Amino acid sequence: MQGLLFDEEQSSAPAEKNPNTASAELARLFETAKSCQQCTLAGSRLNFVFGEGNPAANLVVIGEAPGAEEDASGRPFVGRSGQLLDKILLAAGFQREEVYICNILKCRPPGNRNPQSDEIASCMPWLLQQLHIIQPKVILMLGKVAANTILDNTLSLGAMRGKLIQWKGYDCFITYHPAALLRNPNWKRGCWEDIQVMMRHYASLCGTTSPSEKQKNQ
Ligand code: URA
Repeated sequence: MQGLLFDEEQSSAPAEKNPNTASAELARLFETAKSCQQCTLAGSRLNFVFGEGNPAANLVVIGEAPGAEEDASGRPFVGRSGQLLDKILLAAGFQREEVYICNILKCRPPGNRNPQSDEIASCMPWLLQQLHIIQPKVILMLGKVAANTILDNTLSLGAMRGKLIQWKGYDCFITYHPAALLRNPNWKRGCWEDIQVMMRHYASLCGTTSPSEKQKNQ
């Protein structure tokens, strides 16, 4: 696979993080990835939506694929779903820029249809390399499609959400996709419960809650 800098087995490797190194490595990866032509989505995209945020984030948030606004701007989660995601993160004590936000697919599927298997196969190596560079303590996957795709299963969201799931050595949590919450506000309570479970685990690993909470307590 073009641009694959490491063996998949190594994805949970180093313990120490250097933000400057991670930033430079992500920038280098973006330069390689941004002209990707490995699936047909390259022909219809306006922008390659790589991801953004803290290169040394302890929390990485992974969505499904860019929508129209993300495709137009080149940034993940900037539409209505993104605004709700920002609110969820804030409620958990995170400024958006403290975490790293990205998607499984880096290019918008036409009409926002679900990712197809060839697109996933082409795009997953970019995500795996991002995670290998960032080395998050916790990963939050948004929605059933993202979770089924990453975990390569067909479980219901109910069977996956609100609990610790190990994947490639990463500690992962799954909750509703913000777009689903916009359609069904009744699910917001469940989402908040999932986030609280995740935050308890985050605090147990990082010695505190979020970076902004840490600052407030100093
Ligand atoms: N939905 C996603 O899954 N990702 C985005 O970036 C925007 C909407």
